[in-house]
Amino acid sequence: MNIETIAIHAGAEPDPATAAIAPPIHLSTTFEHGPATEILHGYTYVRDENPTQDRLEAALAQLECPRQGKAGHGLARIEGTTSESGKESPAALAFGSGMGAAAALLQSLEPGSHAIFPEDVYVHVRLVQREYLPKWQIQASVVNMLDVEAVKRALRPETRLVWLETPSNPRMNVTDIAAVASAAHARGALVVVDNTFATPVLQRPLELGADVALHSTTKYCGGHSDVQGGILVLKSKGPLYDKLYQTRLVLGAVASPFNSWLVLRGLRTLAVRMERHTANAMSVARALEAHKRIEKVFYPGLASHAGHEIAKRQMKGFGGMVSILVQGGWDEAVGVAAKVRLWRNATSLGGVESLIEHRASAEGPGSTAPKNLLRLSVGLENADDLIEDLMQALG
Ligand SMILES: Cc1ncc(COP(=O)(O)O)c(C=O)c1O
Repeated sequence: MNIETIAIHAGAEPDPATAAIAPPIHLSTTFEHGPATEILHGYTYVRDENPTQDRLEAALAQLECPRQGKAGHGLARIEGTTSESGKESPAALAFGSGMGAAAALLQSLEPGSHAIFPEDVYVHVRLVQREYLPKWQIQASVVNMLDVEAVKRALRPETRLVWLETPSNPRMNVTDIAAVASAAHARGALVVVDNTFATPVLQRPLELGADVALHSTTKYCGGHSDVQGGILVLKSKGPLYDKLYQTRLVLGAVASPFNSWLVLRGLRTLAVRMERHTANAMSVARALEAHKRIEKVFYPGLASHAGHEIAKRQMKGFGGMVSILVQGGWDEAVGVAAKVRLWRNATSLGGVESLIEHRASAEGPGSTAPKNLLRLSVGLENADDLIEDLMQALG
């Protein structure tokens, strides 16, 4: 099946009790079990697993691995079937936020291990790397991921994880997932790709050789700026899945059933939204590239982007995020953000509405974002209206 069809139907089996087409939200925190805690209907306690979250996990697992067969979900678990094809099923674990998912993955590393991070990465992942990993006795190196030879040089016998974020936040760096994965695997390290900006509609890291795909589902997967969530997708269950499951269960970064339901609902329109986000972002990027007050536009869809050729190879479209450098510095960039009327000055991304943000001030002290960088989350409005507003703000 194609990704657009999977987005509509994955995890959407009619409710076995009522035949409801829209999935039910099971808010119950607890499920009846036998007198010796025998599991009667597949569930015991909401923090372990719950039916709404199961549907979301099945849907995202299938979206990230459309060729790998259907993922197991709650209904299948009750019916005792996990995969329709008999092949290894992909598996996903939903979390209460993207950072909850990121933290669980990093908490799966043993003391004494080593991880590699890119220079440009979501600010709070950098914070975990700098502030928390040392406390957990995990060493980290920060590497220019655009240089695969540099990644190879940074790999050590104790390297367990290479962290990729492509396109990256906020510089829109594009990393060659297949090349880094083969270098990492040659030294026994796993590769995670933060796929938040691209979504499985535009890029599927597991098919390119990565071991884990991570999403802040708060962004495009939810798609309406009204839900927080995160997810990890693995090619199959196994020791890493078990460890992550246990971390989520015990440390508690779980998604609520209602939030799981909202993300699941968002997934239904993900493919069409990504198409429009991409078309709008391309128009906005081209218009800005031609403006004399713009020093640089970072958008992988532009031929001028350093990662354009790699992006063409590994992405189906270039996504809805664009970053720009305004001629001048901090004040000039903030001045443009102050003049927009249609775009909203707000953090986050991936919703239907267009947002603009001066990243250096949003990230605060320690930010590595250029002082004149504005990040644009290009929404689903008419592209001409978005461009007109940016042009009046640029003067
Ligand atoms: C690329 C990326 N990864 C992870 C996160 C963290 O996600 P959340 O805010 O859902 O914890 C963000 C948040 O902005 C992000 O942009």
